[in-house]
Order: sequence, then structure tokens, then C-alpha cells
Amino acid sequence: MPSASRGPYLSTFIGREDELGEVRRLVDHNRLVTLLGPGGMGKSRLGYRVLGDMAPAFPGSAWSVDLADLAEPALLGLTVATSLGFRPPADEFDVGALAEQLGERAALVYIDNCEHLLDACAELTAALLARCPGLRVLTSSRQALGVLGERVYPVPVMSTDDAIELFAVRATGALPSWTLERDRAAVVDLCQVLDRVPLAIELAAVRIRTFSPKAMAGRLVGDGALLRDTLRGEPSRRTSLVGCLQWSFDLCTVQEQLLWSRLSVFGGGFALEAVEAVCPGDGLAESDVVVALTGLVDKSLVERDVDDPEGRYRILEVIRQFGGAKLGPAEQRWRRGHRDYYLALAERFDAEWIGPSQRAWMDRFRRERANLRRAFDFSVTSAAEAPLAMRMCTVLEHFFASTGGGAEAVHWLQLALAHGTGTDTERAFALRVGCFVASLNAAMTTASAMYDELAGLAEATDDDWIRAYALYAGAVVRTWQGDAETGANLAADGLEILHRLGDVGRAANLHFLRGMMLGWADRADDAAADYQRCLELTEPRGERWLTSYAQWGLGVDALQSGDSERAIRLERTALRAKVDLGDQMGIGLAVEALAWAAVDQRRGKEAAVLLGAAEAVWQEIGTSVAAMPYLTRRRDTAIRETRRLLSSAEFEDLVRHGRGLPQRDAIAIALGRTRVGRTGSDAALTRREREVAALLATGESNAAIAESLVISVRTVETHVVNIMRKLGLKSRSQVAAALAAESSAAQVQ
Ligand SMILES: Nc1ncnc2c1ncn2[C@@H]1O[C@H](COP(=O)(O)OP(=O)(O)OP(=O)(O)O)[C@@H](O)[C@H]1O
Ligand SMILES: [Mg+2]
Repeated sequence: MPSASRGPYLSTFIGREDELGEVRRLVDHNRLVTLLGPGGMGKSRLGYRVLGDMAPAFPGSAWSVDLADLAEPALLGLTVATSLGFRPPADEFDVGALAEQLGERAALVYIDNCEHLLDACAELTAALLARCPGLRVLTSSRQALGVLGERVYPVPVMSTDDAIELFAVRATGALPSWTLERDRAAVVDLCQVLDRVPLAIELAAVRIRTFSPKAMAGRLVGDGALLRDTLRGEPSRRTSLVGCLQWSFDLCTVQEQLLWSRLSVFGGGFALEAVEAVCPGDGLAESDVVVALTGLVDKSLVERDVDDPEGRYRILEVIRQFGGAKLGPAEQRWRRGHRDYYLALAERFDAEWIGPSQRAWMDRFRRERANLRRAFDFSVTSAAEAPLAMRMCTVLEHFFASTGGGAEAVHWLQLALAHGTGTDTERAFALRVGCFVASLNAAMTTASAMYDELAGLAEATDDDWIRAYALYAGAVVRTWQGDAETGANLAADGLEILHRLGDVGRAANLHFLRGMMLGWADRADDAAADYQRCLELTEPRGERWLTSYAQWGLGVDALQSGDSERAIRLERTALRAKVDLGDQMGIGLAVEALAWAAVDQRRGKEAAVLLGAAEAVWQEIGTSVAAMPYLTRRRDTAIRETRRLLSSAEFEDLVRHGRGLPQRDAIAIALGRTRVGRTGSDAALTRREREVAALLATGESNAAIAESLVISVRTVETHVVNIMRKLGLKSRSQVAAALAAESSAAQVQ
């Protein structure tokens, strides 16, 4: 995750002091500000910097969303919601739900690179701004959004001083022995020729090894290279950038040119292995790829992401588009190759899911989201390619289910299925995944519509695979519709066929699901057998995802039968694995179960805090236990019992405390590493109080705090009084010490 102020950029930020001040002022006074300008002008750079500067005034509520790799307007809302850490529970993105999650809090959202999704961006920001009074939106775009109240800031070219500094810093980076002093006058001229456009300056500066600044200026003017700008979304105007890009292109070897244009099919960066697989052919030998890539990196056209352990590469949007424009009609061919590569990779992921490399695969695909999107995007546009999108959904089932990409999977599936192409088997496989992820998201209308088609296929064909998958999907859909008994019976029939067919992965999954169904159908005793079968298929193979879910299920059933000690052991084992895997759903479920166990052992305070903590997880991933119909009952019982152990005020306070805890702390409590004891109701600061306390600790005045948090001074006064009371302090100057003592105490415990 790039830091707020840097965004995806790795190089140093230069100058722009006046511009920064002006944009900050505009954001202070307007709720929608658009940084406008042609490609390479430095809009994005400026935007991330402003966001970083202003973020402290929006604690926990300043976010950035990069749209460069998103081609599909229908996914805009979902992308924004996900970037903000909210996930919509339904299959259809609902702006109302996102607005509700944002509420009235003071928030700042920076949406980078809007130009290709103007209408969708306009609609979404207008809707959010109308519903969320505390929200401010900053965007960067080559065209204005055209929303009422939008304040447009045309990003100017760099000042001469900034331009010279940028050139000097990048040139010495490329050739450390070069100094500005020797060439200052020529650099000033060159920057003028380049119109002081930052990207043009950067591209020229790396040429310092071959050309003097004077020679560069001469060539750029002499070649008549100042071409008409035809980049997408820009008014037709003369600009130095395209000239500069064309000049860079002309100076590349033929291999570098071919590679540059073919790299445009990637989105959001790429690994060397992917480049070597996708780009060779037609004039570019496999053995030449590395040399060509090295050349492009040397010329600053491609950047190696030094922060990425896998050594990925990135390409700036305007450079990518310039290369893409050179592909011409061959684009289809290279996009198909790109899709084929990721599809093959996904096939391997699927084949190795039940095994020790599960975690590595998941991490790898988390990095490839943008490439997957581009692959889907290409595949769903034609009837002939659509079956490959179906296949891709099929083999990415675990990825979607485990990383909360269910809504996106459903979106691609619906587009692909709508073409009506694909064999019965291809459709059936995809439909099963659709039923599963849609149910997980509680999108039951979609799930049952997909199931209808799948059940029809099973009836019309004599095919064991289709029959098994239809039973699998039916089991899930029926259960999520509220009939776990029927679900469990369908699952049993499906399992029989799956075992016969040797489909270990799906069988393991379905055993786990059936265990859960039986538990929900009040047949916890029978459930254990299915969980055990699941464990037999997973544990010896080094699998952890399902293993930990099965442990969670066994734990819940242990609670049911009154063995809370065993339940706690199982749940803690599951929780540790879930934390390690980064499975938020799993973390929420395990924390929730540990809350139930705490109340069974009459530890009311702990139960209340954990109930609050679990709620925070549900909210964060945009779902609730309500998406698991039977768990709601269990949760309600736990709440009732916990209330019995505590006073009403104490209960509310502790739940609120749990909700506001950083997840790390909540997990420490759930694992028994930290006691709740000292966080009695009085000591529990609310999330807002913590924000105020943090600012108090830095010595800020009430007025300054009010301004930072965008709340009234009176409200701040009330918070301060409560903070002092809760922390037992007499003066404001003690707050810093009290907070420090509190955090070190939490670490020790
Ligand atoms: N103030 C700056 N300091 C250092 N580098 C800068 C600055 N402004 C821009 N750049 C560099 O110039 C290049 C283009 O900048 P940026 O990506 O922000 O342009 P943009 O206007 O967002 O372009 P696009 O419309 O293609 O998204 C980047 O490599 C960026 O690092
Ligand atoms: Mg940009």
C-alpha cells in the first residue's frame, strides 16, 4: 500500500510550493476540487502530496483511489468502496450504503486519474457529496468532471526554478558526475523548449548520458518534434510532451519499441516473468526481452518498483498509452496473449490451492488485481472470448472468496454469461462459483437466478461433473436461503460424486460447508464428521485456509455442546492462522466465537469488548453475521447473556471500546495475550476521544484541534473533559505521558 503522500511514485518530489498552498486552500474552501491538465503535467503527483499534507486533519479518514487501471465504469463504486476499506454486502454496488458507511465524518478522498471514467466519476462524487456532509473530494483528471460546485484547478507548468531543479536532480541520478553549474544556461533553454512539463523534463534528463542539454534542445526544436497532441481525453493542442515521447520512442532500438508498445497491455505493473511470457514474438525474440527491458528502464520509460520484493515494474500512464497507440490492430492479439498468461497462472493457482503454497499464491494474485481486471475486461467484450472469462472465474474461485472480491466476480460472470456462449460444462462450472460467491455476499436474487440455470443444465445433461456442481451450488443456495437441513442433504449427494471424480479441492470445501450446514441445522454431533473429513483432505497437504475454517467450525460446535475450554483452544488456533493469512472474514468469525466463549465462561467484560471488535471487522469488510443467517441467532444470544453480566452502561461502553480498538489489540485480547481488566468502562476512550487526545498530547489548543478534526470548539471542550476524567488527569500537559504509559503497558501485557 503506497503511503498517502507518495502515491505510487518512488522518485523525490520537487518544488510546487505555490501550487500546493493554492490547492490546499481550495480544498479547505470547496468540497470538490479537480486538478486539471494534460498527461505528464504532474497532476497526480500534486494530488498525492496534498492528500499527504492534509491527511492529519482527517485522522483515519483520508484515502486515495487510483483509477488508472480501471476500465469498467460499472466497477467504479466498488473500487472506491474497497479503497476506502468498505465492502458492499450486495452484488449491486449501492451508493447509499457507502454513504452510510462514510456518514457525517470529516473525510478526504483523492481520486486519481478520472479522465476515462468521467460520467461515472461525476455521478458517484455528486451522490456522495450530497449525502455525506463531512466529505471532501479531490480528483485529478485530464478533463473536468462537470459536477455542480466543482472547483477546477488547472495545474500549471512548473516554474522555471522547479523545472531546473527537477532536471538537475534526475540528470545527476542518471549521471552522477554531471553538474548543473556547467550547463545551467542550456538547461534553462531546454526546460523552455520542453514547456516545463515535468514528464518531458524527466524523459530528457535521463538522456544526459548521451546528449548535452544543448544538443537535446537543438534536436527537439530542429526535428519539428513538437507534434499535435492526440492523447486521449485532451483538447487538441500543441504540447512538447508528445514530441518528447516520440523523440524517446525514435531513440529506442526496434526491440525496445516493440516491447514498449506491448507492455501497454499490462495494468498496475508486471513481473519480469510475465513480460517474458507475454511480449515475445513478431520481431522480438525471447532472448532479447531482458535487454530491451533494461533499455527501457535506463531511459526512465519503465520503472522498477524497488519496494516490491518480487521486483515488479511499472510504467507511467501517459507512457503506457503512447506505447499502446503504436500497437494498432495488433492490440487484440497481445491482449489475448496477456489474458492467456493470467488464465494459465490462475489454473496453477487453482491446482495448487490445497497445498503449502496457498499463501504465496494468494499474495501473488493480490498484486495482480489490475492485470486480472484487464484480462476480464478483454474477455467479456466478445461472445467468442466470454467462455474464457467464465473459466477464469472458475479457477479464481478461492481468490475471490478469500479476498472479498465476490461482488467483482459476480459482475464479470454476469457479463460473460450474458453472451450465451460456452459449453454446458463451462457454463455450469462458472455458475457454481457464481452461486457460491453471491451467497457469501448475501446477494440471494443473483444466486438463485444462477442456480436456476445450473439446475436446468444438470437435468438436461447426463454429466457427473455438472450434476455434482449443481448439487454443490444447490446446497449453498438453499442454506443461505435459510434451509440448512436441505442444504446438508444436497451436499451429501454432491460429495459422493465429487469423491468419485477425485475433485479433492471442491470436496474439501464442501465437507467444510456441510459441517457448517449441519451445525446450523442443530445437528452439531453429525457436523464433526464432515469437519474431520475436510481436515483429512487439507491438513496433510499443508493447506491452512480450510483447515482453520474447519477448526473454527469445530470450536463453534464445542461451544454448543458446552465445552468452552476446547472451543477456546480451537478458536485461538484458527485465529492465529487467519491472522497469518490475512483472512478478514475468518478473523471476524473467530473473534466472534471467542466472544461467545468468554460469555459462556462468565467473563462479561471480555465478551463485550470482543463483540465490539467483531462488529468492527464486519463493518470493515462490509458484511455482517447476518450474511450467515444462523450465526445471527448465536450472536443475539451472546449479547443477551453478556448484558446480564454487566450494567447497561458498562456493556455499551465496552462494546464501543472494542469497536474502536485497533485490530491488533483486539486480536491480542482474543488470543488471551492482553487482559481487558484495566479497560474498565471509565478508562475506555472512544475513537473520537483518542483522536482528540492524540492532538492534545502534541500540545494543540482546543481551537486548533477543532479545526483539524472539523468539529466545533464546544465539542472539543466536551471531549477534553471526558478524556481527563477517564484518564484520571488534572492537567492537559499530562495527556502525552498518560498515552505513552498506556501504549507501553499494552505492549508489555
Ligand atoms: N513536483 C514534482 N516533483 C518531481 N517529479 C514530478 C513532479 N511533478 C511531476 N513529476 C513527475 O512527472 C511525471 C508525470 O507526473 P504525473 O504522473 O503526476 O502526471 P499526470 O499529470 O498525473 O499525468 P497523467 O495525466 O498521465 O496521469 C512523473 O514521473 C512524476 O514523478
Ligand atoms: Mg496522473
